[in-house]
Amino acid sequence: MKRKGKLKKIIYETKCIEGKESKQLLIEIKNAYKTYDNGEVKNQVLKNLSLQIEQGEFIAILGPSGSGKSTLLNMIGGLDQLDSGEIIIDGNSIQKEKDDKLSQYRRKKIGFIFQAFNLIPVLSVYENIVMPTVLDDSEIDEDYIKDIIEQIGMTEFCNQFPSKLSGGQQQRVAIARALANKPKIVLADEPTGNLDTKTGNDVMKLLRDGIKKYGQTLILITHNEEIAKMADRVVCLKNGVLENWEG
Ligand SMILES: Nc1ncnc2c1ncn2[C@@H]1O[C@H](COP(=O)(O)OP(=O)(O)O)[C@@H](O)[C@H]1O
Ligand SMILES: [Mg+2]
Repeated sequence: MKRKGKLKKIIYETKCIEGKESKQLLIEIKNAYKTYDNGEVKNQVLKNLSLQIEQGEFIAILGPSGSGKSTLLNMIGGLDQLDSGEIIIDGNSIQKEKDDKLSQYRRKKIGFIFQAFNLIPVLSVYENIVMPTVLDDSEIDEDYIKDIIEQIGMTEFCNQFPSKLSGGQQQRVAIARALANKPKIVLADEPTGNLDTKTGNDVMKLLRDGIKKYGQTLILITHNEEIAKMADRVVCLKNGVLENWEG
């Protein structure tokens, strides 16, 4: 079984996408379906959605409110399950993974910037930022953490608690927390939604630096077309499927 799994992974890794440099497929979503059922209404959010994302790619997702963008990101991040279809990350399907494997996947590979920040109120800014690294029993790269805190302009707020911060400041802490582990995949749900243009641009620089320095793959949901244009590829989620967006 183990050997078969390894072989599948090797075959998968050699499946490259044609291009100037051949790049490695990192995320593959195949025929994804998701319906929310509240008893009265069935809300079919994802309808046979498929998507391939390469290692190191920056992809922006646009789409009307309620179109399922956060749902899609939750699926990729292993926070929710599809009704049918498959999500393959690095050659492994995460669909039927057990809870402990999934949480390991999230801790090791994913940096999630939540739309609602999800900071822990009883922890300081610094403690919130390093929490995933601590949970993972990994070593904290203090110089790197100091650097990202500086880049988001939060150095003087390190010992503050989230309740003392504005929405924009909380969003910046959520961004630093997602990057603290240098994750392979950054899932960013409207990460500049609460920020002014200058701070938003600083955050975008930080996210793009992660792609350059650490080969990170960035999937970013935004309503801001200027930010979407920074991406390698822009897609739009509408009626449960993704369409290419030409601008
Ligand atoms: N856990 C849930 N239970 C029931 N309905 C949900 C749930 N999550 C999202 N929805 C519904 O699914 C649709 C898509 O939501 P969402 O993915 O948050 O959209 P977007 O991020 O594009 O605004 C919405 O109609 C929302 O109300
Ligand atoms: Mg959303």
